[in-house]
Amino acid sequence: MKAIMAVLPGDGIGPEVTAEAVLVLEAVGRRFDHAFQFGYGLLGGCAIDAAGSALPLETVMLCQASDAVLLGAVGGPKWDDPTAPVRPEQGLLGIRKALGLYANLRPVKLNPALLHASTLKPETLAGVDLLVVRELTGGIYFGARKEAAPGDEVAYDTMLYSRPEIERVTRLAAQAARGRRGRLASVDKANVLASSRLWRRVVSELMRDEFPDVALEHVLVDAMAMHLIRRPAAYDVVLAENLFGDILTDEASMLAGSMGLLPSASLGEELNPHGQPRGLYEPIHGSAPDIAGKGVANPLATILSAAMLLRHSLGLEVEAQAVEAAVDFVLAAGLRTPDIADGAAEVLGTAAMGAAVVRNVTG
Ligand code: NAD
Ligand code: IPM
Ligand code: MN
Repeated sequence: MKAIMAVLPGDGIGPEVTAEAVLVLEAVGRRFDHAFQFGYGLLGGCAIDAAGSALPLETVMLCQASDAVLLGAVGGPKWDDPTAPVRPEQGLLGIRKALGLYANLRPVKLNPALLHASTLKPETLAGVDLLVVRELTGGIYFGARKEAAPGDEVAYDTMLYSRPEIERVTRLAAQAARGRRGRLASVDKANVLASSRLWRRVVSELMRDEFPDVALEHVLVDAMAMHLIRRPAAYDVVLAENLFGDILTDEASMLAGSMGLLPSASLGEELNPHGQPRGLYEPIHGSAPDIAGKGVANPLATILSAAMLLRHSLGLEVEAQAVEAAVDFVLAAGLRTPDIADGAAEVLGTAAMGAAVVRNVTG
């Protein structure tokens, strides 16, 4: 297969972890005889520095001309001035919106080799295998907003949802549940928020009419934050609006052991020439300014995002599994980056961990 991928390394550890994921994709290309091409674009702080915009038009065009997009992370202290006219994070929200990526899939699976690397008790973690489906182009991230002007210290953000926005992401989550254990937990704050009351009503109606075979429960977001560390193995697919899904998945990353392990796939309606969604694939973590440039970031979240890219945007399931098996193998062999190091492990930097995965993909 011939495939063209856009690579947006971004800021901080973004370039360090995407470099390893690209090496893994190249190894997949060699082993399975695919011609993968990579086109690089600017996004976030580096794009502000080079082009004055967090999302230059060329980057949007590059992504639209590609079969899929691999992204590192954006942001950092250099661009954190609250009065700055443009922020790196706007670039990330902008590319999600420009590509119509309304559903963000964030799988959280405990790797048995890491049972003791987590801060949580092994008996709580056993059997954790959930998929968070986060709505990605609506809600409070995109509603009407007013910044506080000097002398008029009032600001607001608006959480707004419409029926079609809720229906499409619910459908995608319910279909995912059908292919898994057939359970969907929808998260909201319907005891306070009007947008959540609509969310709950629309989810209930759609599930009743289209997915009567999928078991549905509604969970308030504050309770969900607690249940996720009390009985995480009880959940299958978790559906949440944009902000709730963002927060709950950073929490859920600790079920897997580290932020450095959680991949994601953002999907929409647009198809690429392979007849698959033109998705965007990124780790859930940020640019990690505290460790950027040190060569110690865990590249596995980005490598596992590349596996999701192979699966969802290129339809290459065997290749995706080969990457996931290679990651399982290096973890089972005791190789660890510092974020998941436990006493007995061999601790490696970013490049050495990436190289270990490449060796195992190559076979
Ligand atoms: P962060 O995710 O960058 O880091 C949180 C903590 O997790 C840090 O201690 C960091 O060292 C650690 N960590 C994250 N990824 C890791 C990895 N791969 N390996 C090892 N440790 C890892 O969150 P933050 O510090 O709150 O945010 C930093 C910047 O990143 C901010 O500017 C924020 O806006 C941005 N951000 C970007 C994205 C994105 O691009 N998708 C996501 C989240 C945050
Ligand atoms: C994420 C990040 C982003 C988000 C920020 C950087 C805009 O936290 O991808 O999880 O909130 O979506
Ligand atoms: Mn986040």
